[in-house]
Amino acid sequence: MDSYHITGGEKLAGDHRLKGAKNGVLPILAATVLTGEPCEICSCPSLSDVHTMVEILRSLGCSVTWDEDNIRVDAKTVDQWEIPERLMKGMRSSVFLMGPLLARCGQVAMTQPGGCAIGDRPIDIHLSGLRMLGAEIEEDPHRIVCRARRLTGATIRMEFPSVGATENLMMAAAAACGETHIIHPAREPEIEDLQNFLNACGAQVAGAGTGEIVICGVGDRRAAGPGSGTAPLSGCVHRVIPDRIEAGTYLAAAAITGGEIRLLDSAPSQMAQTLARLKEAGCRVKVDKTSIWLTAPRRLRSVREIKTLPYPGFPTDMQSQFLSLLTLAEGESKITETIFENRFKHVDGLLRMGADVAVDGRTAHITGVAGLHGARVQAEDLRGGAALVLAGLAAEGETVVENICHIDRGYDKLEVVLNDLGAKIERI
Ligand code: UD1
Repeated sequence: MDSYHITGGEKLAGDHRLKGAKNGVLPILAATVLTGEPCEICSCPSLSDVHTMVEILRSLGCSVTWDEDNIRVDAKTVDQWEIPERLMKGMRSSVFLMGPLLARCGQVAMTQPGGCAIGDRPIDIHLSGLRMLGAEIEEDPHRIVCRARRLTGATIRMEFPSVGATENLMMAAAAACGETHIIHPAREPEIEDLQNFLNACGAQVAGAGTGEIVICGVGDRRAAGPGSGTAPLSGCVHRVIPDRIEAGTYLAAAAITGGEIRLLDSAPSQMAQTLARLKEAGCRVKVDKTSIWLTAPRRLRSVREIKTLPYPGFPTDMQSQFLSLLTLAEGESKITETIFENRFKHVDGLLRMGADVAVDGRTAHITGVAGLHGARVQAEDLRGGAALVLAGLAAEGETVVENICHIDRGYDKLEVVLNDLGAKIERI
């Protein structure tokens, strides 16, 4: 298994151009199953999760080509409705296929999805919403089978604003008969991006980013009920929004090494919490519409409590990277993780590198130390792995981060980008 060998102590400096968001491209690729004409998805990052999604689409009968950053999907034929177990287990996002396949084929079968072990991660909110749209679902600990002769719009109040469930329901409802109201949906920018993609393909979705999403299903307009063989939507060309978590990670990398960075093709307006906390830690941050400049202070400062929350709150996907950053900040900081119950696994590695962190349930208490030292550590999940790389960039001596397949799920050539910015990191 590959590992990163990092010689710490180099200040990062330079420019980095962002690619499309992992969490944007995955549901959009799943949504192509609803379309009967070619779709071109631009600015796709080369991530192992995106490769897995492409493999799933091919296994369902779609023709997919990938040319540099652009993925072209032709879903004229979708003749399979069972997702192979190996691909299901490869990533959590395979569950995004549930709504689209149900709408297109009238049935879908899958095992429980895999993905980062950062918590229990049930899919009950996805399933109860699909039931409200008319799906019949059989579920046991291994396999889920959903069937629907007809999907009908409904009013769905989400008990928690789950990102994946909001997206799954939007996709199923886009092809249903009648109007669906999703009350208290997740408001992440990637949901608005999915809305824009669906609308470009002929769907009628409004309200993403607000407290209610309204979807007028095309089922009434088109003879495209589940299993009819007709795709409910047409094709389009769509550019995925920039990856705000990739952006935040590189800003944190510059901050932790005392460096300076400019991010291009970014969306600073979607990163308010991350940018505010970097400023609070003493970084100088300047933005225009699509660029972000960060200059690190000589010594980072501690921050008042960070609490992860659904968007527009502080993103759970930036929690691990901030925890690494704050191990070197002067003073005491506190991070509370409210979204996933098991997202402090990287703390073990940080302790081995000389950090002073105490975890008490869902809260980590961090006392800044003057320096970290290199160690051999394990990536246990995607963002926790990235956090260990950040710590390694700032530590004295060599850090080896093992098990980096987790990091490959969310960062396109991390070591190439970091080396271009002046780091010393090698994939072995
Ligand atoms: C998405 C993101 C992930 C991010 C997370 C929260 C993608 C591909 N992934 O994951 O990077 O960390 O949002 O911002 O977009 N839950 C339930 N029942 C459900 C669904 C969720 O209890 O049916 C719980 C989860 O266990 C978790 C919380 O809700 O505790 C948030 O999960 P959710 O918003 O669904 O995250 P994902 O869509 O899996």
